[in-house]
Amino acid sequence: MNVGLGFIGAGNHARHHMKEFAQLPGAVLVRVVDIRHIRAEEAAHDFSPLRVSSTLAELLADSDVDAVVIATPAESHRELVEAALAAGKHILLEKPMAHTPEDALAIANAAAAHPELVLLVGHSERFNRAYIDARKAIDENHVGVPRFASASRLSPLHLNDPGWTLGVLDTAVHDIDIMLWLIGDRPVAVAANGVRVNPDLSIFDHVTYQIHFADGALAQGHVGWVKFGDGYPMSGNAHPRLFIAGTAGTLSLDLWQRPVAVDNNLSGAYFWPDDVLTGYGDYFTELTAQNYAFVRAVTEGKPLSIMPAEAYQAVRVAHAARESLTRNNGSLILLD
Ligand SMILES: NC(=O)c1ccc[n+]([C@@H]2O[C@H](COP(=O)([O-])OP(=O)(O)OC[C@H]3O[C@@H](n4cnc5c(N)ncnc54)[C@H](O)[C@@H]3O)[C@@H](O)[C@H]2O)c1
Repeated sequence: MNVGLGFIGAGNHARHHMKEFAQLPGAVLVRVVDIRHIRAEEAAHDFSPLRVSSTLAELLADSDVDAVVIATPAESHRELVEAALAAGKHILLEKPMAHTPEDALAIANAAAAHPELVLLVGHSERFNRAYIDARKAIDENHVGVPRFASASRLSPLHLNDPGWTLGVLDTAVHDIDIMLWLIGDRPVAVAANGVRVNPDLSIFDHVTYQIHFADGALAQGHVGWVKFGDGYPMSGNAHPRLFIAGTAGTLSLDLWQRPVAVDNNLSGAYFWPDDVLTGYGDYFTELTAQNYAFVRAVTEGKPLSIMPAEAYQAVRVAHAARESLTRNNGSLILLD
């Protein structure tokens, strides 16, 4: 069975999806809509056989569209998800799930009311072999119980929009989700501080945040939007790093280097768990792996590796960090 895809939003990231899905067995590009019509026109020109819809209703009414890819700013997600579910469409929804916990919860509840439809939130790092191997190292007890995590992510400025409600925390939700996933405990409080480095921006472009967990574990993150020069290595990509200290060892991950290294205190072993660099057979990027997982969830009912409730948690933490950042004095925001 093929999955006919409708794209809602035809901006920067939607075009990556179109490129990936165009090469993916089982996926067919059907329609695209964007409130900036010219973007839909350009996408249809570049990605055959996409056809332009002038309204969302027209796209959703097309019975050849089995699933939609929502790649619009988070502020629009709830309304678009509710419309797509009502029209009986499966959904690949870009992260963050929403710009507020209220909208994220509404989306999770709406998805739960439609168990026959797939809702996958695009936390693409969950499909990145480096993070999957980090999780495997923790599951196999190489680092013991994680007690401290530190993540850093530098994202190219041109890929981001200073108008997003969550600001640079829109980008940080990747690391927030990964640290919640790896630490596996309940976050209870969040604090954040920021600084404006780029004089052209009216928002904090470098932010540090801390997440306190119920069992006393601590996570911290640094997220920054950076104007990389063309000559900078991998200037078009984020530079994500992660460090975990556990009761039995440490783990560090750097997506620009050999991705995952584990140092186990007890055995004295220092190793790279696996074949991270060898890829996915035919599927090499985390976006391809994610989109392939989405197609298989729709066609074969394969379980999702990130559930809506987890994406909601990431929004909750990011939003609390934003609240703390608004005061910019490191105020601790309690999560109830
Ligand atoms: N998973 C990732 O690694 C990753 C990477 C980049 C962006 N993103 C996410 O993807 C989303 C889009 O980011 P982007 O960089 O493509 O932004 P963008 O500004 O380049 O594109 C967004 C597009 O959505 C359109 N749009 C806005 N509201 C709409 C609506 N109601 N209906 C139809 N179209 C609408 C805009 O006109 C624009 O063309 C964001 O949520 C962002 O966080 C995820």
